[in-house]
Amino acid sequence: MSISAGRVALVTGASQGIGRACALELARAGATVALAARNLEKLGDVAAEIAAAGGKAHAFALDVSNEESIKECAKAVIAHFGAVHILVNNAGITRDILALRMKRKDWDDVLTTNLTGAFLMTQAVMSQMVKGRWGRIVNVTSVVGETGQAGQANYAASKAGLIGLTKSLARELASRTITVNAVAPGFIETAMTEVLTAEQKAMNAQFIPLGRVGTDVEVAHAVAFLASEEASYITGHTLDVNGGMFMG
Ligand SMILES: NC(=O)c1ccc[n+]([C@@H]2O[C@H](COP(=O)([O-])OP(=O)(O)OC[C@H]3O[C@@H](n4cnc5c(N)ncnc54)[C@H](OP(=O)(O)O)[C@@H]3O)[C@@H](O)[C@H]2O)c1
Repeated sequence: MSISAGRVALVTGASQGIGRACALELARAGATVALAARNLEKLGDVAAEIAAAGGKAHAFALDVSNEESIKECAKAVIAHFGAVHILVNNAGITRDILALRMKRKDWDDVLTTNLTGAFLMTQAVMSQMVKGRWGRIVNVTSVVGETGQAGQANYAASKAGLIGLTKSLARELASRTITVNAVAPGFIETAMTEVLTAEQKAMNAQFIPLGRVGTDVEVAHAVAFLASEEASYITGHTLDVNGGMFMG
């Protein structure tokens, strides 16, 4: 699996968890990595980790819930590195609660960050990708975008929306050699799932044929593959990384 030297990958939500793992893996595969999120201190640590391993990365401030911040971040990355060839829309949040009690703000916050943020970030880098006639866009969705989940109507809707966005953009951008795919993680051990009790985690693991939760690195391998030269004939696809808990 390789990424040609000089390719620049922008990873949103690269300060921790799956985004951080994606950034490390893309750098290892040969990409120059633009690390974006709100926590610049954590991004600095990831950049230092990549540099220590011989890679190239730089941190950029980004709040995907803010349209101006998205535009400024895209502009800053392009000014710094010259282009964005690979975009990984990974930043995401949850605000879990049963729909009956869900506040409008819980709905809006999740949709704005997870879905609108990915759309606006893609739009912000799209024209230069089209001009360059090469690109890879990978959207990090979720198994619950495919199956639904009680207590996650907002989150599941945002992730299902990402799959529709992925397929539509794949059709729009194919003629410019830009592929658009999604990776759908199942239950992955990160800060996002840390809030679950040991009992809830054990219960979830029961429904995973491989018998364990996944790691951020396992998701990163799938993302890096879809971003690689070798994935050139794959577009509009959702790649499940879920230990078999859902087989679409
Ligand atoms: N963990 C799982 O089991 C699982 C399963 C399926 C899908 N996913 C998806 O995988 C992605 C990464 O999740 P994770 O488990 O790694 O979660 P995490 O550890 O909570 O990390 C979330 C990342 O998103 C960033 N982020 C959140 N809001 C942001 C905003 N407004 N602007 C910019 N960055 C923002 C955070 O950075 P800052 O706080 O520094 O901004 C952080 O780097 C998410 O899209 C999530 O939905 C996770």
